[in-house]
Amino acid sequence: MRNTGIAITGSGCAVPSASVDNQALTALVETSDEWITTRTGIKKRRVANNSESLSQLAAVASLKAIAMAGISAQDLDLILLTTSTPDDLFGSACQVQQALGANRAVAFDLTAACSGFIFGMVTAAQYIRTGVYQNVLVIGADILSRWLDWQDRTTCVLFGDGAGAVVMQASSSDKLLGFELRSDGSQNHHLNLAYSGQNQELTQGINISKGNYQAVTMNGKEVYRFAAQKVPEVIDKALFRANITVDSIDWLLLHQANQRILDTVAQRLGIPEHKVISNLANYGNTSAASIPIALDEAVRAGQIKPNHIIAASGFGAGLTWGAAIFQWGK
Ligand code: ACO
Repeated sequence: MRNTGIAITGSGCAVPSASVDNQALTALVETSDEWITTRTGIKKRRVANNSESLSQLAAVASLKAIAMAGISAQDLDLILLTTSTPDDLFGSACQVQQALGANRAVAFDLTAACSGFIFGMVTAAQYIRTGVYQNVLVIGADILSRWLDWQDRTTCVLFGDGAGAVVMQASSSDKLLGFELRSDGSQNHHLNLAYSGQNQELTQGINISKGNYQAVTMNGKEVYRFAAQKVPEVIDKALFRANITVDSIDWLLLHQANQRILDTVAQRLGIPEHKVISNLANYGNTSAASIPIALDEAVRAGQIKPNHIIAASGFGAGLTWGAAIFQWGK
Protein backbone atom coordinates (compact mmCIF):
# COMPACT_ATOMS: atom_id res chain seq x y z
CA MET A 1 0.00 0.00 0.00
CA ARG A 2 1.30 3.41 -0.95
CA ASN A 3 1.53 6.12 1.70
CA THR A 4 -1.04 8.81 0.97
CA GLY A 5 -0.60 10.93 4.10
CA ILE A 6 1.31 14.18 3.77
CA ALA A 7 4.38 15.42 5.65
CA ILE A 8 6.05 18.80 5.17
CA THR A 9 9.68 17.85 5.68
CA GLY A 10 11.88 20.72 4.47
CA SER A 11 11.87 24.46 3.95
CA GLY A 12 14.18 27.06 2.45
CA CYS A 13 14.20 30.67 1.37
CA ALA A 14 16.22 33.15 -0.63
CA VAL A 15 16.02 36.92 -0.96
CA PRO A 16 17.91 39.39 -3.16
CA SER A 17 20.93 41.06 -1.56
CA ALA A 18 19.84 44.71 -1.92
CA SER A 19 17.79 46.07 0.98
CA VAL A 20 15.84 49.32 0.71
CA ASP A 21 14.67 50.96 3.94
CA ASN A 22 11.69 53.27 4.31
CA GLN A 23 13.90 56.35 4.50
CA ALA A 24 15.34 55.57 1.06
CA LEU A 25 11.82 55.60 -0.43
CA THR A 26 11.35 59.22 0.62
CA ALA A 27 13.65 60.09 -2.30
CA LEU A 28 11.12 58.57 -4.71
CA VAL A 29 7.69 59.49 -3.34
CA GLU A 30 6.17 61.77 -0.72
CA THR A 31 6.16 59.42 2.25
CA SER A 32 7.89 58.90 5.59
CA ASP A 33 9.30 56.09 7.70
CA GLU A 34 6.69 57.04 10.31
CA TRP A 35 3.74 56.64 7.87
CA ILE A 36 4.93 53.32 6.48
CA THR A 37 5.82 51.91 9.91
CA THR A 38 2.59 52.87 11.66
CA ARG A 39 0.28 51.92 8.74
CA THR A 40 1.99 48.66 7.77
CA GLY A 41 4.79 47.60 10.16
CA ILE A 42 7.21 47.43 7.21
CA LYS A 43 10.72 48.87 7.82
CA LYS A 44 12.61 47.61 4.76
CA ARG A 45 12.32 45.29 1.76
CA ARG A 46 14.63 43.38 -0.58
CA VAL A 47 14.70 44.23 -4.29
CA ALA A 48 16.15 42.15 -7.12
CA ASN A 49 18.58 43.72 -9.57
CA ASN A 50 18.73 42.95 -13.28
CA SER A 51 21.08 40.00 -12.83
CA GLU A 52 18.90 38.30 -10.19
CA SER A 53 16.12 36.24 -11.73
CA LEU A 54 13.02 34.72 -10.21
CA SER A 55 14.17 31.25 -11.30
CA GLN A 56 17.53 31.69 -9.53
CA LEU A 57 15.95 32.84 -6.27
CA ALA A 58 13.47 29.97 -6.48
CA ALA A 59 16.28 27.47 -7.13
CA VAL A 60 18.35 28.66 -4.15
CA ALA A 61 15.33 28.44 -1.82
CA SER A 62 14.51 24.99 -3.24
CA LEU A 63 18.01 23.56 -2.71
CA LYS A 64 17.80 24.51 0.99
CA ALA A 65 14.36 22.90 1.31
CA ILE A 66 15.52 19.72 -0.44
CA ALA A 67 18.61 19.51 1.80
CA MET A 68 16.51 19.90 4.96
CA ALA A 69 14.13 17.17 3.76
CA GLY A 70 17.12 14.87 3.27
CA ILE A 71 16.31 14.00 -0.34
CA SER A 72 17.99 14.82 -3.63
CA ALA A 73 16.62 16.80 -6.58
CA GLN A 74 16.37 13.53 -8.56
CA ASP A 75 13.85 12.27 -6.00
CA LEU A 76 11.36 15.02 -6.90
CA ASP A 77 8.26 13.93 -8.83
CA LEU A 78 6.64 17.36 -9.16
CA ILE A 79 7.72 21.01 -8.91
CA LEU A 80 4.99 23.60 -8.46
CA LEU A 81 6.18 27.19 -8.82
CA THR A 82 3.58 29.60 -7.49
CA THR A 83 4.24 33.08 -8.83
CA SER A 84 2.62 36.06 -10.51
CA THR A 85 5.93 37.39 -11.79
CA PRO A 86 7.65 34.64 -13.80
CA ASP A 87 10.81 35.40 -15.79
CA ASP A 88 8.89 34.02 -18.75
CA LEU A 89 5.14 34.40 -19.25
CA PHE A 90 5.07 30.81 -20.53
CA GLY A 91 6.18 29.78 -17.04
CA SER A 92 9.43 29.55 -15.09
CA ALA A 93 9.03 26.22 -13.26
CA CYS A 94 10.95 24.33 -15.93
CA GLN A 95 13.90 26.71 -15.55
CA VAL A 96 13.91 25.92 -11.83
CA GLN A 97 13.73 22.21 -12.62
CA GLN A 98 16.73 22.58 -14.90
CA ALA A 99 18.70 24.62 -12.33
CA LEU A 100 18.05 21.93 -9.69
CA GLY A 101 18.86 19.03 -12.01
CA ALA A 102 15.49 17.51 -11.07
CA ASN A 103 15.27 15.60 -14.31
CA ARG A 104 12.53 13.15 -13.18
CA ALA A 105 10.15 15.91 -12.08
CA VAL A 106 7.31 17.46 -14.02
CA ALA A 107 7.24 21.21 -13.41
CA PHE A 108 4.64 23.90 -13.94
CA ASP A 109 3.59 27.34 -12.70
CA LEU A 110 0.49 28.13 -10.67
CA THR A 111 -0.80 31.68 -10.26
CA ALA A 112 -2.96 32.85 -7.38
CA ALA A 113 -1.14 36.05 -6.35
CA CYS A 114 -0.54 36.28 -2.60
CA SER A 115 -2.62 33.13 -2.03
CA GLY A 116 -0.40 31.21 -4.45
CA PHE A 117 1.63 29.28 -1.90
CA ILE A 118 -1.41 27.97 0.00
CA PHE A 119 -3.13 27.07 -3.30
CA GLY A 120 0.12 25.36 -4.35
CA MET A 121 0.38 23.32 -1.14
CA VAL A 122 -3.20 22.14 -1.47
CA THR A 123 -2.72 21.28 -5.16
CA ALA A 124 0.46 19.33 -4.34
CA ALA A 125 -1.42 17.49 -1.60
CA GLN A 126 -3.97 16.15 -4.09
CA TYR A 127 -1.23 14.44 -6.12
CA ILE A 128 0.17 12.84 -2.95
CA ARG A 129 -3.25 11.83 -1.57
CA THR A 130 -4.11 10.02 -4.79
CA GLY A 131 -0.82 8.11 -4.64
CA VAL A 132 0.42 9.58 -7.94
CA TYR A 133 3.50 11.39 -6.58
CA GLN A 134 5.62 10.94 -3.44
CA ASN A 135 7.98 13.94 -3.38
CA VAL A 136 6.71 17.38 -4.33
CA LEU A 137 8.48 20.74 -4.19
CA VAL A 138 6.20 23.76 -3.73
CA ILE A 139 7.80 27.15 -4.29
CA GLY A 140 6.37 30.62 -3.68
CA ALA A 141 8.40 33.31 -5.44
CA ASP A 142 7.73 36.83 -6.64
CA ILE A 143 9.67 39.83 -7.92
CA LEU A 144 6.97 42.48 -7.72
CA SER A 145 9.56 45.29 -7.85
CA ARG A 146 9.54 44.71 -11.63
CA TRP A 147 5.86 45.56 -11.78
CA LEU A 148 5.45 48.45 -9.36
CA ASP A 149 4.95 52.07 -10.29
CA TRP A 150 7.74 53.56 -8.17
CA GLN A 151 5.95 56.92 -8.37
CA ASP A 152 2.79 55.50 -6.74
CA ARG A 153 3.19 55.82 -2.97
CA THR A 154 0.02 53.82 -2.30
CA THR A 155 1.65 50.63 -3.63
CA CYS A 156 5.43 50.97 -3.97
CA VAL A 157 6.12 51.13 -0.23
CA LEU A 158 4.34 47.83 0.45
CA PHE A 159 6.08 45.16 -1.59
CA GLY A 160 9.39 43.30 -1.68
CA ASP A 161 11.01 40.42 -3.57
CA GLY A 162 11.90 36.88 -2.49
CA ALA A 163 11.36 33.14 -2.70
CA GLY A 164 10.50 30.34 -0.30
CA ALA A 165 9.97 26.62 -0.77
CA VAL A 166 8.83 23.49 1.02
CA VAL A 167 9.14 19.77 0.31
CA MET A 168 5.93 17.79 0.78
CA GLN A 169 6.28 14.01 0.98
CA ALA A 170 4.03 10.99 1.07
CA SER A 171 3.95 9.69 4.63
CA SER A 172 2.26 7.00 6.72
CA SER A 173 0.95 9.72 9.06
CA ASP A 174 -1.04 12.65 7.66
CA LYS A 175 0.08 16.10 8.77
CA LEU A 176 -2.06 18.20 6.45
CA LEU A 177 -5.02 18.36 8.79
CA GLY A 178 -7.45 20.53 6.83
CA PHE A 179 -7.77 23.26 4.23
CA GLU A 180 -10.22 25.61 2.55
CA LEU A 181 -9.73 27.65 -0.64
CA ARG A 182 -11.89 30.51 -1.96
CA SER A 183 -12.10 32.86 -4.96
CA ASP A 184 -14.26 35.87 -5.81
CA GLY A 185 -13.74 37.34 -9.28
CA SER A 186 -16.40 39.98 -8.70
CA GLN A 187 -13.84 41.87 -6.58
CA ASN A 188 -11.01 41.49 -9.10
CA HIS A 189 -10.83 45.23 -9.79
CA HIS A 190 -9.53 45.95 -6.26
CA LEU A 191 -6.07 44.54 -7.00
CA ASN A 192 -4.58 44.19 -10.48
CA LEU A 193 -1.47 43.67 -12.52
CA ALA A 194 -3.46 43.79 -15.71
CA TYR A 195 -2.68 43.64 -19.40
CA SER A 196 -3.62 46.74 -21.31
CA GLY A 197 -3.41 46.97 -25.07
CA GLN A 198 -4.44 49.01 -28.07
CA ASN A 199 -5.92 47.94 -31.35
CA GLN A 200 -3.38 47.41 -34.09
CA GLU A 201 -4.38 46.46 -37.60
CA LEU A 202 -2.96 43.07 -38.54
CA THR A 203 -4.40 42.77 -42.02
CA GLN A 204 -7.20 44.68 -43.63
CA GLY A 205 -10.21 44.69 -41.29
CA ILE A 206 -8.53 42.44 -38.68
CA ASN A 207 -7.19 43.99 -35.51
CA ILE A 208 -5.08 42.51 -32.77
CA SER A 209 -4.21 43.94 -29.39
CA LYS A 210 -0.68 45.19 -28.71
CA GLY A 211 0.31 46.25 -25.24
CA ASN A 212 1.94 45.34 -21.98
CA TYR A 213 1.22 44.57 -18.38
CA GLN A 214 0.54 47.69 -16.34
CA ALA A 215 1.88 48.41 -12.86
CA VAL A 216 0.19 47.02 -9.75
CA THR A 217 -2.91 48.98 -8.75
CA MET A 218 -4.69 48.39 -5.46
CA ASN A 219 -7.62 49.74 -3.52
CA GLY A 220 -5.86 49.28 -0.19
CA LYS A 221 -8.89 50.03 1.96
CA GLU A 222 -11.07 47.45 0.19
CA VAL A 223 -8.36 44.77 0.27
CA TYR A 224 -7.82 45.49 3.96
CA ARG A 225 -11.54 45.15 4.68
CA PHE A 226 -11.73 41.93 2.65
CA ALA A 227 -8.72 40.38 4.43
CA ALA A 228 -9.89 41.33 7.94
CA GLN A 229 -13.27 39.68 7.30
CA LYS A 230 -12.47 36.69 5.09
CA VAL A 231 -9.22 35.42 6.59
CA PRO A 232 -10.65 34.60 10.05
CA GLU A 233 -13.63 32.93 8.33
CA VAL A 234 -11.51 30.73 6.08
CA ILE A 235 -9.21 29.73 8.96
CA ASP A 236 -12.27 28.80 11.02
CA LYS A 237 -13.51 26.64 8.16
CA ALA A 238 -10.13 24.92 7.75
CA LEU A 239 -10.01 24.29 11.53
CA PHE A 240 -13.48 22.74 11.29
CA ARG A 241 -12.29 20.46 8.50
CA ALA A 242 -9.23 19.55 10.61
CA ASN A 243 -11.57 18.82 13.50
CA ILE A 244 -9.53 20.93 15.93
CA THR A 245 -10.20 24.16 17.82
CA VAL A 246 -8.28 27.40 17.66
CA ASP A 247 -6.67 26.65 21.05
CA SER A 248 -4.71 23.77 19.47
CA ILE A 249 -2.86 26.13 17.12
CA ASP A 250 0.80 26.69 17.97
CA TRP A 251 1.44 29.30 15.26
CA LEU A 252 -0.63 31.65 13.13
CA LEU A 253 1.23 32.11 9.85
CA LEU A 254 -0.49 34.68 7.65
CA HIS A 255 0.50 36.20 4.34
CA GLN A 256 2.76 39.05 5.44
CA ALA A 257 0.88 42.03 3.96
CA ASN A 258 0.37 44.37 6.86
CA GLN A 259 0.98 44.08 10.63
CA ARG A 260 -2.45 45.58 11.30
CA ILE A 261 -4.08 42.75 9.32
CA LEU A 262 -2.03 40.18 11.28
CA ASP A 263 -3.11 41.78 14.58
CA THR A 264 -6.78 42.06 13.58
CA VAL A 265 -7.04 38.47 12.35
CA ALA A 266 -5.31 37.13 15.48
CA GLN A 267 -7.62 39.19 17.68
CA ARG A 268 -10.75 38.03 15.86
CA LEU A 269 -9.68 34.39 16.23
CA GLY A 270 -8.62 34.88 19.86
CA ILE A 271 -5.00 33.89 19.15
CA PRO A 272 -2.44 35.55 21.47
CA GLU A 273 0.27 37.77 20.00
CA HIS A 274 3.15 35.42 20.90
CA LYS A 275 1.74 32.80 18.50
CA VAL A 276 1.69 35.17 15.51
CA ILE A 277 4.64 34.84 13.12
CA SER A 278 5.71 38.17 11.66
CA ASN A 279 8.76 39.09 9.60
CA LEU A 280 7.23 41.74 7.34
CA ALA A 281 9.30 44.49 9.00
CA ASN A 282 12.31 43.08 7.11
CA TYR A 283 10.78 42.06 3.78
CA GLY A 284 7.46 43.84 3.16
CA ASN A 285 4.83 41.94 1.21
CA THR A 286 6.65 39.37 -0.93
CA SER A 287 3.38 38.00 -2.38
CA ALA A 288 3.51 34.20 -2.94
CA ALA A 289 6.88 34.05 -1.16
CA SER A 290 5.80 35.58 2.14
CA ILE A 291 4.40 32.46 3.86
CA PRO A 292 7.26 30.08 2.99
CA ILE A 293 9.91 32.70 3.86
CA ALA A 294 8.32 33.32 7.27
CA LEU A 295 7.86 29.55 7.79
CA ASP A 296 11.49 28.83 6.95
CA GLU A 297 12.83 31.57 9.23
CA ALA A 298 10.71 30.33 12.15
CA VAL A 299 11.77 26.71 11.57
CA ARG A 300 15.47 27.59 11.37
CA ALA A 301 15.19 29.86 14.45
CA GLY A 302 13.83 26.86 16.39
CA GLN A 303 10.46 28.53 17.01
CA ILE A 304 8.47 26.03 14.93
CA LYS A 305 9.25 22.54 16.22
CA PRO A 306 8.29 19.09 14.89
CA ASN A 307 4.56 18.41 15.24
CA HIS A 308 3.67 22.01 16.07
CA ILE A 309 0.30 22.89 14.54
CA ILE A 310 0.38 25.80 12.10
CA ALA A 311 -2.62 27.69 10.75
CA ALA A 312 -1.43 29.29 7.50
CA SER A 313 -3.54 31.63 5.39
CA GLY A 314 -2.94 33.55 2.17
CA PHE A 315 -5.08 36.26 0.61
CA GLY A 316 -4.76 38.61 -2.33
CA ALA A 317 -5.47 39.34 -5.94
CA GLY A 318 -8.16 37.41 -7.79
CA LEU A 319 -9.49 37.93 -5.27
CA THR A 320 -8.32 34.66 -3.76
CA TRP A 321 -7.92 33.44 -0.20
CA GLY A 322 -7.35 30.18 1.58
CA ALA A 323 -6.07 28.43 4.69
CA ALA A 324 -4.21 25.22 5.44
CA ILE A 325 -3.78 23.64 8.87
CA PHE A 326 -0.71 21.42 9.11
CA GLN A 327 1.81 19.96 11.49
CA TRP A 328 5.46 20.65 10.81
CA GLY A 329 7.97 17.89 10.12
CA LYS A 330 8.30 14.22 9.25
N1 ACO B 1 3.04 57.66 2.44
C1 ACO B 1 2.34 58.70 2.94
N2 ACO B 1 1.01 58.85 2.77
C2 ACO B 1 0.37 57.89 2.06
C3 ACO B 1 1.03 56.80 1.50
C4 ACO B 1 2.42 56.70 1.70
N3 ACO B 1 3.16 55.67 1.22
N4 ACO B 1 0.13 56.03 0.86
C5 ACO B 1 -1.07 56.61 1.01
N5 ACO B 1 -0.92 57.76 1.73
C6 ACO B 1 -1.96 58.70 2.14
C7 ACO B 1 -3.18 58.57 1.32
O1 ACO B 1 -3.07 59.35 0.13
C8 ACO B 1 -4.25 59.13 2.25
O2 ACO B 1 -4.18 60.54 2.23
P1 ACO B 1 -5.54 61.40 2.25
O3 ACO B 1 -6.17 61.05 3.58
O4 ACO B 1 -5.02 62.79 2.16
O5 ACO B 1 -6.31 60.93 1.08
C9 ACO B 1 -3.75 58.67 3.63
O6 ACO B 1 -2.36 58.36 3.47
C10 ACO B 1 -4.47 57.46 4.14
O7 ACO B 1 -4.49 56.48 3.13
P2 ACO B 1 -5.28 55.15 3.28
O8 ACO B 1 -5.26 54.39 1.98
O9 ACO B 1 -6.60 55.43 3.92
O10 ACO B 1 -4.38 54.38 4.35
P3 ACO B 1 -4.69 53.04 5.08
O11 ACO B 1 -4.65 53.27 6.53
O12 ACO B 1 -5.89 52.33 4.49
O13 ACO B 1 -3.41 52.15 4.73
C11 ACO B 1 -2.66 50.40 3.27
C12 ACO B 1 -3.10 51.85 3.38
C13 ACO B 1 -1.38 50.22 4.08
C14 ACO B 1 -2.37 50.06 1.80
C15 ACO B 1 -3.75 49.46 3.82
O14 ACO B 1 -4.97 49.82 3.28
C16 ACO B 1 -3.49 48.01 3.53
O15 ACO B 1 -2.56 47.39 4.06
N6 ACO B 1 -4.34 47.36 2.72
C17 ACO B 1 -4.22 45.93 2.45
C18 ACO B 1 -3.17 45.61 1.45
C19 ACO B 1 -3.03 44.12 1.33
O16 ACO B 1 -3.24 43.39 2.29
N7 ACO B 1 -2.69 43.56 0.20
C20 ACO B 1 -2.59 42.10 0.19
C21 ACO B 1 -2.71 41.56 -1.05
S1 ACO B 1 -1.35 41.94 -2.04
C22 ACO B 1 -1.40 40.89 -3.44
O17 ACO B 1 -2.23 40.04 -3.60
C23 ACO B 1 -0.38 41.11 -4.52
